[in-house]
Amino acid sequence: MPFENILWKVEDGVGIATVNRPKALNALDGKTVEELTEVVEAVRRDPAVRALVLTGAGDKAFVAGADIAAMSTMSPVEARRFADRGHRLGAALERLEIPTVAAVNGFALGGGCELAMACDLVYASEKARFGQPEVNLGLIPGFGGTQRLTRRVGLMRAKEMVFTGDFYDARKALEMGLVLDVLPPEKLLEHAVAQARKIAGKGPVAVAQAKRALETGADADLHAATEIEIQAFALCFGTEDAREGMKAFLEKRPARFKGS
Ligand code: CAA
Repeated sequence: MPFENILWKVEDGVGIATVNRPKALNALDGKTVEELTEVVEAVRRDPAVRALVLTGAGDKAFVAGADIAAMSTMSPVEARRFADRGHRLGAALERLEIPTVAAVNGFALGGGCELAMACDLVYASEKARFGQPEVNLGLIPGFGGTQRLTRRVGLMRAKEMVFTGDFYDARKALEMGLVLDVLPPEKLLEHAVAQARKIAGKGPVAVAQAKRALETGADADLHAATEIEIQAFALCFGTEDAREGMKAFLEKRPARFKGS
């Protein structure tokens, strides 16, 4: 898949997409959002890719937000379309059956913080900086920030982030629950890929069902959410992978999952 603004490779079942606009600190213009969405769609159709890692090119930024130059001339209608595209990307990442891992190597601001939050797992380098600084531009978050941030860090901290536009370093982001772990910059991608690879080695149908139950259940009431889990649990029993996984345990050998 040749892209203008994304570097793309697959290694041992793990797809690695690198946003590559270092001159604009990997800011998301319409083209980059479209290309990221194409990556997600291609991954969805390719059973050989069992996990997706997102990161940014260079050592300064993951993604420094939506592209301000591109936004500066948008009409409300164009801005609505742009936000729709950003939301479609976030939803596509959440609905992808395979796990997604953000390796936040630098600034994750505005749309960059929102992109990271749409991933299942977020790891940060010690150099990462998070923020929703849209108010500095007379704007508000447009790719899900006012909603996903609340779900990650709670309403009051989300209000602080969105109202002040402050930047938060990686340690603070860890404390707030925005990231899972903070790593030295040179270890970040290796760690994110290792975690992705570990998950890629599990039963793909089980991982997909678990993701769906966790993702859908998080926004449902407990009764509905537990029903989602029960259905997903039962569905696993129709898979060859579940037969193989349990048989392998009983035979004291590693399981060989096929994803069926
Ligand atoms: N859009 C477009 N270009 C950007 C950009 C962005 N979001 N962020 C940085 N750049 C560009 C700069 O314009 C600059 O380009 P030139 O070299 O051509 O002048 C280049 O990247 C390097 O940036 P700086 O010189 O500013 O680097 P710095 O180290 O001094 O500062 C920074 C780094 C603090 C991240 C600063 O660039 C910055 O504040 N960027 C904007 C961050 C921001 O406001 N993000 C939110 C955007 S709105 C949004 O995302 C809406 C939404 O929810 C969808």
